[in-house]
Amino acid sequence: MKTPIQFRLNDEDVATFAEAGANLLDVLREAIGDLSVKGGCWQGTCGTCTVLVDGAPHLSCVTLAEICMGRSIETAAGLRRGADLHPLQSAFAERFAAQCGYCTPGMLMAAKALLDRNPAPSREEVVDAICGNICRCTGYEPIIAAVLDAARGVRERRA
Ligand code: FES
Ligand code: FES
Repeated sequence: MKTPIQFRLNDEDVATFAEAGANLLDVLREAIGDLSVKGGCWQGTCGTCTVLVDGAPHLSCVTLAEICMGRSIETAAGLRRGADLHPLQSAFAERFAAQCGYCTPGMLMAAKALLDRNPAPSREEVVDAICGNICRCTGYEPIIAAVLDAARGVRERRA
């Protein structure tokens, strides 16, 4: 049996029906159509499905959609504002921090959660923020450098 569910998605109200026990990843992709959210392991171990729920990173594959009722969800699809890329998106491109790109939406959202609360992180804080996100391609250093570059962009936006 499906139940109605509504929440804010990237600053817009959305409403749909979800099976009892449905996870947020499946609801976002299949019911809402936000294909920026990727699934990898569906077991809470790879991090590629990371989205923000009320500003905090959550693994959407192991998050019950029902607990998101009335809450604010952010995904990589909401990072860009019109033609303006988020500083993280620009920095990932400039630093070649995405190769196959499979981990990238989750990396971006884990990093966004960090920069939203701490726009001047240390390297160690960046590593800690993305330590649950597996990347098989980049060796992580370009990603860490990109997040530190993006932090400067976020600070400039706020100045
Ligand atoms: S798909 Fe959610 S942690 Fe891997
Ligand atoms: S860029 Fe390929 S898994 Fe990270």
